[in-house]
Amino acid sequence: MQLTNPTEQDEERRKWVLMTGTLAGVALAATAVPFVSSFAPSERARAMGSSVEVDISGLAPGETKMVEWRGKPVWILRRTPEMLAGLATLTDKLVDPGSEREQQPAYAQNDHRSINPEYLVAVGICTHLGCSPNSVPKGSNNPSVGADWTGGFFCPCHGSTFDLAGRVFKNKPAPTNLEVPPHKYLSASKLLIGEDNAA
Ligand code: FES
Repeated sequence: MQLTNPTEQDEERRKWVLMTGTLAGVALAATAVPFVSSFAPSERARAMGSSVEVDISGLAPGETKMVEWRGKPVWILRRTPEMLAGLATLTDKLVDPGSEREQQPAYAQNDHRSINPEYLVAVGICTHLGCSPNSVPKGSNNPSVGADWTGGFFCPCHGSTFDLAGRVFKNKPAPTNLEVPPHKYLSASKLLIGEDNAA
């Protein structure tokens, strides 16, 4: 998309997009919702299979673990109580706050979009054209998210924003929330990505 005669706000957003795009490689390690692990060898070997087991016992509140499932990045974010409280305040700003569209499993049809409210499990691929959104913490000065931002994800390609449940905000190019993959808990600290208990 080409920007012509940009307003001041558009210019600020353009600068931010360029900056975040350039820094995307290092931003992953520096975000306030840190990614603590990605693509461990054993997980990579299973990534092209139908399901991936993930140990979440070492995940601290506020941290995100990334694993590969069927060639896609899957984020597991352990949300803090503050992060969860922010989700309930966003309903009017979201395209599909109840996750009622067809790609969402039944256990994602709630404010937190998950089986266990503490953990978000979502595919880290923007539903617009497939870019990888970045984590943007509460209090960020990113002009695309606004002063009342409660934390979430920003796609540097065309500016879509998602909350900490992967729900897309209104008036953004992405049409739907981030995908919640089929998954289930094998125990309190072990997830299976790729299978669930749905019929
Ligand atoms: S690919 Fe994310 S906004 Fe376009």
